[in-house]
Amino acid sequence: MKTLIIYNSQTGFTAKYAQWMAEATGAERMEFKAAKKKQAAFFDNYEKIVFGGWVMGGNVCGLKWFAEQLAGWAGKQLAVFAVGATPADSEMADLFMKQTFGGDQWNGVAGFYCQGGICYDKMSAGNRMLMKLLQKALKVKKDKTKADEEMERMIGSSYDISDRKYAEPVINWIIE
Ligand SMILES: Cc1cc2nc3c(=O)[nH]c(=O)nc-3n(C[C@H](O)[C@H](O)[C@H](O)COP(=O)(O)O)c2cc1C
Repeated sequence: MKTLIIYNSQTGFTAKYAQWMAEATGAERMEFKAAKKKQAAFFDNYEKIVFGGWVMGGNVCGLKWFAEQLAGWAGKQLAVFAVGATPADSEMADLFMKQTFGGDQWNGVAGFYCQGGICYDKMSAGNRMLMKLLQKALKVKKDKTKADEEMERMIGSSYDISDRKYAEPVINWIIE
């Protein structure tokens, strides 16, 4: 069964997950920018399509485009993996997945979460600035919640908590 993995990555974590998945399954890989330019007929070649996007402010980047394809891809098997800095076993990651994929439009689409990390070196200047502002806002915030404290700790510096094991459920979904 032919599978395409479309991935949207800013600093490399989502790209690395897409690579792990492609290597393990023989699926083809394509960057989101290139996929967006393809005509609808191009996707007829694939029975399974996986979309991977990084998480920004609680949204999966590029998911809107993927959602717009759902009607045209009704006969295909579809999956999404989101890559964020939040640890996979945290309540925040759980809540994020429920909020993102809870709607009816996602019925029949498999949803996965892979923990990535933070890489300030590869981040765009604009996003680096956003993170700085968020850091400052959290620093001065009074009555911080547990989530605020977790976030403050999380975005303080670069780190890599990605692991191939988080790609395994997606790999299994592709080969099953
Ligand atoms: C502006 C900005 C907002 C972010 N918001 C979130 C978020 O809401 N939740 C989360 O888990 N990670 C968040 N992150 C972290 C990224 O999702 C994380 O660095 C991810 O691994 C990036 O993947 P990439 O390397 O494929 O671009 C944010 C990062 C930036 C720069």
